[in-house]
Amino acid sequence: MLIVDPNNQELSKKLSKALSIDIFYPEIHVFPDGERRIRINQNVANKSAAILKSISTPVETNLLEFCFTVDALRRNGINNIFGIITYLGYSRADHIFRVGEAVPLEVVIKILEASGVDKVLLIDPHSIKTPELFHVDVQVESALSLFGRKIKEIESDKNNISVVSPDMGGIRRIKILSRMLGGVKEATINKDRDLQTGELKNLGVEGNLNSKCFIVDDMISTGGTMTEAIDAVTEKGVEEVYVFVTHPVLSGDAPKVLQNSKAKKVFMTDTINIPENKRFPKLEILSVAPIIASKIQEWIKNFSV
Ligand code: R5P
Repeated sequence: MLIVDPNNQELSKKLSKALSIDIFYPEIHVFPDGERRIRINQNVANKSAAILKSISTPVETNLLEFCFTVDALRRNGINNIFGIITYLGYSRADHIFRVGEAVPLEVVIKILEASGVDKVLLIDPHSIKTPELFHVDVQVESALSLFGRKIKEIESDKNNISVVSPDMGGIRRIKILSRMLGGVKEATINKDRDLQTGELKNLGVEGNLNSKCFIVDDMISTGGTMTEAIDAVTEKGVEEVYVFVTHPVLSGDAPKVLQNSKAKKVFMTDTINIPENKRFPKLEILSVAPIIASKIQEWIKNFSV
């Protein structure tokens, strides 16, 4: 059974088409105080289910909706549950930044696991360490192959390409992408964030740039990190800048900020639904549906051997 995300119907439908299977939406009733009742209106006994869910804003609600769905399936005799978590909120809060803080990601993972999910798929987790924090089996997939293909469409001569990370945390990502592109120039923006105010300080570009610059990151929230990076490479004389990001968190004015930036185009995936009022002319959405579909197919095959 494929139980899909009511908040991401476009991705849900693409997935249903790619897998040629029916999808089920959980029945969700919201009470006047905001509490939720989740019901699976199907016979699930002795079946296996993949649940698609983006744990994005409002993170707490989406986290509980996922857990309630898992609980409903468990209580009705499901055999096996594969959580396809397209975006995992609180991923950046994975350690103590300043004395006295909690570690929200560890708490989120404990809650997810306590609900009874057997296995989880993450797409471009924020850190290479994120999967290690889970106790259940975690599979990891990436949108980098989609990005690589698109970059080759934009520029076929690898001598004109440079891949750029907007901060030190993304170096691994551009190294993988550079390899996919046959070895291209790489650069990183040396960014510093004030842990109390969140203010960003751009300390310059490290590495080598080419005429076409492809800046790659796992997520855009306010757009601050990305616009700093776009400005930093533009100041160095780069002719064309393209943005590639997996998770379109897009908080506040981010769509406006990105549209008004010096980037030529902004590519983001559909791990989080982008509502019409957040779409902007420079945006192109790439779908992770084929990546998820092949992972689900692999999982299904395991049951038939
Ligand atoms: C940080 O380490 C992340 O990879 C993103 O660069 C960052 O969280 C994006 O946030 P914002 O768009 O608010 O700058």
